[in-house]
Amino acid sequence: MNNYLKTMLKEDSLKEKVVVITGGGTGLGKAMAQYFLELGADIVIASRKFDVLEKAAAELYGKTKGNILTAKCDVSDYKDVEQLLSASVKRFGKVDVLLNNAAGNFISPTERLSNRAFDIIINIVLKGTYNCTLAFGKHWIANKQNATVLNIVTTYASTGSAYVVPSACAKAGVLALTRSLAVEWAKYGIRFNAIAPGLFPTKGAWSRLLPGDLKDKFDLAQKVPLKRVGEHQELSNLAAYLISDYSAYINGEVITIDGGEWLKGAGQFNMLEAISEELWDEIERTIRNVNSSQ
Ligand code: HXC
Ligand code: NAP
Repeated sequence: MNNYLKTMLKEDSLKEKVVVITGGGTGLGKAMAQYFLELGADIVIASRKFDVLEKAAAELYGKTKGNILTAKCDVSDYKDVEQLLSASVKRFGKVDVLLNNAAGNFISPTERLSNRAFDIIINIVLKGTYNCTLAFGKHWIANKQNATVLNIVTTYASTGSAYVVPSACAKAGVLALTRSLAVEWAKYGIRFNAIAPGLFPTKGAWSRLLPGDLKDKFDLAQKVPLKRVGEHQELSNLAAYLISDYSAYINGEVITIDGGEWLKGAGQFNMLEAISEELWDEIERTIRNVNSSQ
């Protein structure tokens, strides 16, 4: 087994922590839920599709025998979010961690989007995140309870990206929220961090970002200096650390986990990777000649 597929933290690292994961029934949310359960956490998974959540909960229970609550919740609806909070507190007595992971996204030239299509992405990603953060934050502050918020953003939250503009706008907003409240709510003992994942194949993302045979047309691993996509366990290891007490002094940080992908796109001369050793010999000779003749 490759070392990066191994689990990282000690057993019981999340014991007695109650973690609410939005979008926890699929993809990366479900992968993180499984690892948190393995580390002893009690988990609430919340999203719009109750049947998907129930199926995921049965699978997670089968694997971990942990405590799992499912909650039907549209994060863009504040009333739903308040119900998620009260159901979580009713079942587990408290919430220690909010993981804002729910998202919506698809590729499209921006001029083809209706205003409603733009709204729908912003409503899930940015409004959903601030709805949950506000409801849970008010609860924690009123109850004088320490807590941690972990937000899942993307590398293009910082750089922007063509063809996923509503998502880029929304994720940039989530990043601003993370950094702002890391400072403002530290006095209440509430910590905020974010993870910016690179390429982590999931059905939800790949069916909307690389639909049809697009995924066969692009070898995504070639975009990454480490020449591979990410494994869900690698992301789960980082997330578990960031919600655990081991990271108690990390606040307001966004940690990129992308094998160097976004930097490869950014560096002005990164395309020189294509040059062979022989050509480099020739280039070196040419530059040395120029240097000595000037
Ligand atoms: C143009 C489109 C469209 C398309 C939908 N719309 N698909 N417009 N091109 N391909 C428009 C619709 O016509 C409608 O506008 C509006 O968007 C809302 O669509 P609905 O289908 O009514 O909405 P809904 O059923 O709520 O679905 C929301 C969704 C869907 C976001 C469109 O994809 C979804 O439920 N996604 C959740 C999961 C997800 O997206 N996961 C991927 C996250 S990946 P009109 O005007 O016609 O009413 C991610 C990773 C990023 O974030 C980084 C990866 C490397
Ligand atoms: P995914 O499986 O499609 O997860 C998205 C989840 O969000 C689904 O479970 C969906 O469940 C939920 N959701 C959507 N709208 C919702 C709403 N209004 N209310 C509540 N829940 C809602 O995709 P994923 O790849 O695992 O993505 C997880 C997170 O990682 C997202 O934040 C994404 O932006 C981020 N990310 C992923 C990648 C990647 O390579 N996969 C890269 C960068 C960032 P329902 O449909 O049941 O509501």
